[in-house]
Amino acid sequence: MIKIENLCKKYGDFSVLENISTEIHKGDVVSIIGPSGCGKSTFMRCLNLLEQPTSGKILIEGQDILDKKADVNKLRMKMGMVFQSFNLFSHLMIIENIMLGPVNLLKKTRQEAYDEGMQLLEMVGLASKAMNYPDELSGGQKQRVAIARTLAMHPDIVLFDEPTSALDPTMVSEVLAVIRKLASQGMTMMIVTHEMNFAKNVSNRVFYMDEKGIYEDSPPQQIFENPQRPKTKEFIYKIRTYNYVIEDKKFDLYAFNAEIEGFLKNQLFDEKRINKVLLICEELIYNCIFSATGEKFSPISFTLQYSQQKDETQIDFLGELIREGIADKADAISTSIVRKSVRDISCTDGRLTVLLL
Ligand SMILES: Nc1ncnc2c1ncn2[C@@H]1O[C@H](COP(=O)(O)OP(=O)(O)OP(=O)(O)O)[C@@H](O)[C@H]1O
Ligand SMILES: [Mg+2]
Repeated sequence: MIKIENLCKKYGDFSVLENISTEIHKGDVVSIIGPSGCGKSTFMRCLNLLEQPTSGKILIEGQDILDKKADVNKLRMKMGMVFQSFNLFSHLMIIENIMLGPVNLLKKTRQEAYDEGMQLLEMVGLASKAMNYPDELSGGQKQRVAIARTLAMHPDIVLFDEPTSALDPTMVSEVLAVIRKLASQGMTMMIVTHEMNFAKNVSNRVFYMDEKGIYEDSPPQQIFENPQRPKTKEFIYKIRTYNYVIEDKKFDLYAFNAEIEGFLKNQLFDEKRINKVLLICEELIYNCIFSATGEKFSPISFTLQYSQQKDETQIDFLGELIREGIADKADAISTSIVRKSVRDISCTDGRLTVLLL
């Protein structure tokens, strides 16, 4: 459906993409992963000509969209794009945001555009918000509207650039659910994402980008469980960390839990394992640390580390209030599930480290 040949992109003398060649087939759901700055966004933006590629060919159904004679606007309409920030018009109602493209560019009647817009809003679960303004919607809802707006243009392929990274952790799943639904309906998509679990479950191909190109192109099972090339291995097996500062005893436990949950989902933890980690964190914070620290409180830095290669999870608490004695308390934690899940606890003044099984 789309064939890319020797695509190159330079900014001045700085080369970002070199000789990318690949083919996207109808129904493909391609997740694009890779380190920050490797050119994922640039690649997407080159595909629908938001950036002008320096050289190469992008063939859509045999037509090169970089050819000077090509009807760029028409071809570009075949590619919808959903951005990190939703880019809705704040002075227009939701339904009007969706009708705008079909009326102005596809020359549909207002009635046609309205009827179809309502159907799309229903599909993304937001029919009841049609007459609201964007500012009256949550981030997750706005992103679902942005997806409906893109679909209203009947694109052959939808490109997503980190569609959930501007959202609160609690809203990520509603947007991913819509993308998952599109995938199941056979929509062709390319998705730049940091949500590894999602990439693994939703796509049939994963591009790992590095060294100015598509460094490894494999099915998700292979990329995540048995990556072939050295840099992919390094990326997949990297130890990932999540940090949080507990400012006082009234910190927001629910937000903290939601963030840990998001982090661990990305590391492919299942729900049972995530709940175990949440329970252990809560026990350690309230029953070991808080109960040992009396009235005076100074911030405690929390770090959760996960090494995929060793399949090892480590929790560290750092702060002035951490005293050696806390380890005994931690040893004696009441809940059996916690005791059963901990491999090792060590505590020195200033640091409590817990290794999980
Ligand atoms: N308009 C521009 N002018 C000059 N350099 C740019 C421009 N846009 C991007 N770059 C550079 O090109 C490289 C690739 O950027 P790009 O945004 O595509 O990376 P990315 O993989 O999407 O990163 P991230 O995961 O952080 O979003 C970076 O080194 C970036 O600094
Ligand atoms: Mg980017």
